[in-house]
Formats: sequence, C-alpha cells, structure tokens
Amino acid sequence: MKYIDRMKEKFNSLMKKKDVIILAVESSCDETSIAVIKNGREVLSNIIASQIEIHRRFGGVVPEVASRNHITAIENIFYEALEKANIKKENLDAVAVTYGAGLVGALLVGVNFSKGLAYSLDIPLIAVSHVHGHIAANYISHLQLQPPFICLMVSGGHTAILRVNNYNEMKLLGTTVDDAIGEAFDKVARVLGLPYPGGPEIDKIAKLGNNTFKFVVSNSLKNTLNFSFSGIKTEIVNFVHNCEQRREEINKADLACSFQECVTDELCNKAIRACEQEGIFKLVVAGGVGANSRLKEKLTRVCNENNIEFFSPVLKYCTDNAAMIGSMAYYMIKDGVGLAQLDLTAKPNIDL
Ligand code: KG4
Ligand code: ZN
Repeated sequence: MKYIDRMKEKFNSLMKKKDVIILAVESSCDETSIAVIKNGREVLSNIIASQIEIHRRFGGVVPEVASRNHITAIENIFYEALEKANIKKENLDAVAVTYGAGLVGALLVGVNFSKGLAYSLDIPLIAVSHVHGHIAANYISHLQLQPPFICLMVSGGHTAILRVNNYNEMKLLGTTVDDAIGEAFDKVARVLGLPYPGGPEIDKIAKLGNNTFKFVVSNSLKNTLNFSFSGIKTEIVNFVHNCEQRREEINKADLACSFQECVTDELCNKAIRACEQEGIFKLVVAGGVGANSRLKEKLTRVCNENNIEFFSPVLKYCTDNAAMIGSMAYYMIKDGVGLAQLDLTAKPNIDL
C-alpha cells in the first residue's frame, strides 16, 4: 500500500482507538519542547528547554540563534520526553507538530524532526496551529472543560477573541488592528530598561506602583471587539524618551502599573462584551499574557460579577509548551482533521 494511503488508514483507525498516545513537538519561538500526551488530557511528560537566557543579552529573540539552538536541543529533549513518560517510541500512535504561526527557521526544526520521526515509525503526522494549541492548554489544565466557550487569546504574536463552538470549529470575533498585547508588554518593558521577556517583569514591578498616569486606549474601536495597543505603547515610549532628554527621573513602577491597568481593563471589557453578545457564559483565556497576575485577578472578578465561568491554564501551560500541541492534536484526530503529508512545511502566519 502507498505511504499516503497507509497513513490515511492509520489516521482513521485512531479516530476509533480507545487510548491514543501522541508525541508532540513545539519549536515556534524560543522554547524547544516535546511532550507525550495520552487521550488529549493526560500529560505523561512535557520537557521544555528555554532559550530565554541566550536571547536576553540581545533584548529579544534573534531568529537565527533560536533555530540553531532548537537544532542542538531537540534530540536530547526527545529522549528525555520518552524516558519521563516511560514510553517506548514504538508505542506512539502519532506525532504532532506546530507548523505555524511563528519564526519560520525555528518552526522548520520541529517540522523536519517530526516528519523524520513519523516516517521512521510509520505513524501519522498531525499539523497543529500554535494558536489552537494555546487554547488546548486549558483542556490539560481543566479536565472537565469542553466547548462551546469564548476564548480571549493573548500571546506575543496574537490578540483576539474567538467563539470556540467545537474543538475544531472557531469563529474570530475580534482581533488587534496593530500590535499584539505581548508585543506591547515587551516593548514597554524594554523602554523601561527591564530584561527580556518584558511581560513577567512588568507584572512584577507593577505591584510596587500606582495607576498615576490613568492611560486610556483609543476610542475608535469602542463599539467593536477589536483591539489597538500601538497608541498606548507609543505614548509610553515617547514619554520615556522625553524624560530622558530632560534628565527627569521616571517612576518605572507607576508607569508599568498604569500601562498594565489600562490594557487589562480593555481586555476584560471586551472579553465580557463578547460573552454577552454571543450568549456564551464561559470564558477561557489562552496564551503567554494569560500568565499576567493582574489580568487573571480582574477576569476572575468580572466573570464572578457577571455569572460567567472563567478558566485559565495553569501557569506552566500558559507560555509555549508541547503538551498543549499534543492535546489539540488529539481532538483533531478525533474529528478527522489535520493529517499532514511529508511535504508539510512551516508557515510563519496562519489565519486565526
Ligand atoms: O504565548 P507565548 O509564550 O508566545 C507566543 O505564542 O507569542 O507568549 C509570550 C508573551 C511574551 O510577550 C511575554 O512577555 C508574555 O507572553 N508574558 C507575559 C507574562 N508572562 C509572559 N505578559 C504579561 N504578564 C506576564 N506575567
Ligand atoms: Zn505561544
């Protein structure tokens, strides 16, 4: 039987198989991660090699450096993930990989590794969207969680509100018209002289400050579910540069706190508005900025006040990891979508 037909047959048989064990690979940015997941919800292992320390001295991720470090790390992480899960590679049912969105060179390392692995084991290869993976981080954090729900997607590359009707059926309700929220956090942190990645640093120092600046976002998107963060980002960058020119001291904690208050209010307001508009009273946050303590605090409170059930991933699954990719792949297999062939390639951008 031809390779393609054999894979289709094996993929279809997984739809009905009781226990499905997936090895998942994630390399879209600066984390090399491999996980072994059973039945979409049970994490048998989730190994993450972070390159944060390597990129910190450059103030951000250097794509070429990221690709090279993925290449160095990936094989050892693969063996570590199998060992931790106590699984032999011959017992894997499928290989899942993030094929986009992300840095193309970084993605290619994971995609090519996964293609070789799936081919050598003669098992199906599943191509997973990184953004869908972030949503699935909630399935491994909350075993009872099922669609439909509204998802507030807040990462370094995306800011969006989605109506998740089913595991593989989503509708985009709103998105950013300029910067992603994580990008804005990182840029504000950088101008304040805080190390990369800036989001957690802002989160930390904001606790020491007050909302003295009382920033507001532009009014132009008020009646939509879209976002714009470039205005507030530029306002802060200009303010800091002006202070530096005048040799005036800046209260970094107040500036960080005021920025965080403004953007988290905006995210909360639109997330609640989406739940009300769609008549779905279940809200799920996803992506790296979902780790922000103030955002979680506010979402918990407003959801409580509005009788909305609120879910956020446990901290370790908020930022990039392969376990979330394996979880998403399981639900793709069960819905019969996502089987990739050996011509799979990396995609820097994917429509939400
Ligand atoms: O989801 P993620 O790991 O990667 C992408 O898919 O983009 O998100 C990374 C982003 C970075 O911008 C980082 O600064 C931000 O998430 N982040 C945070 C926090 N932890 C990570 N932003 C605000 N507060 C945090 N605690
Ligand atoms: Zn991510």
